[in-house]
Amino acid sequence: MTLSGKRILLIISGGIAAYKSLDLIRRLRERGAEVRPLMTAGAQEFVTPLAVGALSSGHVYTDLFSREDEQDVGHIRLARDCDMICVAPATADLMAKMANGLANDLASTVLLATNRPVLIAPAMNPAMWSHPATRRNIETLRKDGIRFIGPMAGEMAESGEAGEGRMAEPLQIVAGIEALMDDAPKPLAGKTAIVTSGPTHEPIDPVRYIANRSSGKQGHAIAAHLARLGAEVTLVSGPVTIPDPAGVNVIHVESARDMLEAVTKALPADIAVFVAAVADWRVSASSDNKIKKKEGEGPAPLELTENPDILKTIGHHASRPKLVVGFAAETADVISNAQAKLARKGADFIVANDVSPATGIMGGDRNRVRIVSKDGVEDWPDLSKDETAARLAERIAENMA
Ligand code: CTP
Repeated sequence: MTLSGKRILLIISGGIAAYKSLDLIRRLRERGAEVRPLMTAGAQEFVTPLAVGALSSGHVYTDLFSREDEQDVGHIRLARDCDMICVAPATADLMAKMANGLANDLASTVLLATNRPVLIAPAMNPAMWSHPATRRNIETLRKDGIRFIGPMAGEMAESGEAGEGRMAEPLQIVAGIEALMDDAPKPLAGKTAIVTSGPTHEPIDPVRYIANRSSGKQGHAIAAHLARLGAEVTLVSGPVTIPDPAGVNVIHVESARDMLEAVTKALPADIAVFVAAVADWRVSASSDNKIKKKEGEGPAPLELTENPDILKTIGHHASRPKLVVGFAAETADVISNAQAKLARKGADFIVANDVSPATGIMGGDRNRVRIVSKDGVEDWPDLSKDETAARLAERIAENMA
């Protein structure tokens, strides 16, 4: 029971995603948490206090000026008599109130009065999520130390519109809460990080693509460990078959160009770690239709163009993160190649590894890396990819201190 005895104040605001909060309550209680629900007026249009109360087996707080509730706990105690506050779903309206310090209902008052960690799971229409007003509020909330989980890309429940704005799934929110409640030291608290991971797929036609053997294991593990140390992590992942790591905001992309766009959108950040095995080339003009085989004729030659170099672009970007880490997958002259990449790509350090087939590193579970920086070369022992990630995250934290 990972949340045993933890007291969570769950604020449900008014969005269709409120139906998922019922499941969230169940999942939190399964893990031993005590859930005290608070609903805005809007939330009660989507799910009833009766349902929320039945699942949490307790009182549901709804009214700022309720004499009964004030005598029971009072809004200030409600704000502090918990280990953390989770807002799910968090509407654009509630986020705007939080960003501006408004306190005109019970939810916003509690959020202004609290001294506890707050995790919010935004849910709104994609146009509202990308609106400059919301972007400003997100930035303010991040600076205020508010933690985010999601939103995810996908289809909206009400309009069928696709884009970013769908609330994170209950289990992802649970993982975010678990990460926040983890008592381990958080040297990267308040820092943001971007991690790229996995291969990219470069289309030839609608059914074929160019790819490589990267599994995403190393990049995903690094994202998870940076989050464990308190960083707010955006993981930009190419197509992989492994699950999204807990407590991390994951953006799924296909091609190198999509990856660069997602990374640029995630700026500014304090830390960036480029682990993805980005395809160096793409097909100059991928076909909209499946390329047909012509009897007796050989295949049409594939003309390739160079892809953008994501690490190099960000390493020289006007909003370059304070710490930029690259990887170097080599099959020969590991150190000298890594040193050349360090300078060329504008990285602070390069994690170099020998990916010759005999090492089994590409796609495998173990790694043996060397850290190449201007200060020299560090040789790390053969470790699991998870141990390598943990060590790298610690190393990054030392560097940021
Ligand atoms: N990288 C990137 N974008 C690319 C190519 C590479 O961001 N288009 C990043 C990788 O994520 C990695 C580093 O650059 O952190 C080095 O990748 P690697 O494939 O080893 O180097 P390349 O630049 O492709 O050089 P080469 O193929 O000549 O070894």
